[in-house]
Amino acid sequence: MNRASRRIRELGSYVFAEIDRIVEDLRRSGAAPVDFGVGDPTVPTPEFIREAGRLAIDSRARAGYPSYVGDAGYRGACAAWFLRRFGVTLDPDREVTSTIGSKEAVFHLAEAFVDPGDVVIGPDPGYPPYQRGTRFAEGEYHAYPLTSANGFMPDFDAIPESAARRAKILWICYPNSPTGAVAPPDVLARAVAWCRERNVLLASDEAYTEIYFTPAPPHSALEWGTQGVLVFHSLSKRSAMTGWRVGFVAGDAEAVAAFRKVKTNVDSGTPTFIQDAAAAAYGDEEHVARFREEYRTKRDIMVEALRAAGLPECRPEGTLYIWQRVPDGMSSVEFARALLAPEISVVVTPGAWIAGSGGGANPGEGYVRLALVPSVADCRIAAARLARFRR
Ligand SMILES: Cc1ncc(COP(=O)(O)O)c(C=O)c1O
Repeated sequence: MNRASRRIRELGSYVFAEIDRIVEDLRRSGAAPVDFGVGDPTVPTPEFIREAGRLAIDSRARAGYPSYVGDAGYRGACAAWFLRRFGVTLDPDREVTSTIGSKEAVFHLAEAFVDPGDVVIGPDPGYPPYQRGTRFAEGEYHAYPLTSANGFMPDFDAIPESAARRAKILWICYPNSPTGAVAPPDVLARAVAWCRERNVLLASDEAYTEIYFTPAPPHSALEWGTQGVLVFHSLSKRSAMTGWRVGFVAGDAEAVAAFRKVKTNVDSGTPTFIQDAAAAAYGDEEHVARFREEYRTKRDIMVEALRAAGLPECRPEGTLYIWQRVPDGMSSVEFARALLAPEISVVVTPGAWIAGSGGGANPGEGYVRLALVPSVADCRIAAARLARFRR
């Protein structure tokens, strides 16, 4: 066989595939692990959404290729939701386009804007496709660290001029995965202004805007105008639809057009019956509020259990993650490994594995990530087992 390409050979494995393997090994050894590893909701997709999907399979019996940019009904539902939720009016024809979940959209964005040698700026820790998409497009990735010292917010003044000058895209993600921080409006305003001053596209990953514990719902970057801004939304977490693979990108019409051009060459659109189910999902907030409350319950159980086990309190304001500081003197891998002891069997992700893209000190070291996806009952089991943790 021909050798794989250089960029494939140089790429490490995807860490969450690694976590899946660890969980599988634990199960085979007879343990009953509680798995906080991968951020994949374990609850069923609400019945009314599945019903909308079932009906759509029949009403669209002549399946045909989907629209490249999304069915008009789906894009209309996205725009209507955006107006209700964020007070922003979007033109569904020019400013909204469907995606096959957010992951591919995040990855493919660089193809639309990055030439070899261009720079993409993004958070560390950060969702891996920000960086991997950049590398596949032969751009350079400049990571800005998210640390407790900066409240897990970007320090725009610390971005070196050498990177800023060549930057084409700046990624932000709030509510932030994995730190759970929610950006105050002035941080989003600053990000928009920083990008506009430098003619950089602001790419705002808004996958977690609906999972928050703050009194007021998080903002979208588009509240500061569409010029030079794209937002990435997904139904994966909002409506427990990870397996359906559906989301949308919205914002600056010219940027949407360039992104659509990439997608037209890569895929043939989101299956239309899935868009019908997704449109139904955007029409309902009751299930979203129910999921939010369940995440809050699980967050509180686990934050309290970790505190009782002697760890510093790390209470996220949003997302389905806890970004937990590990005990002093332990590395993130050592702590994650300690929790895999048979009498505890709690699976978490070492922070060092999902950070460190910036070279230098790894801002994920000293942390583990818990994805609050086990049921409330399983969280209680894990909480009881955490009491057995001894240094
Ligand atoms: C920060 C962030 N952005 C985007 C996504 C993409 O989710 P999906 O591709 O399921 O829409 C995820 C998934 O875990 C994520 O954590």
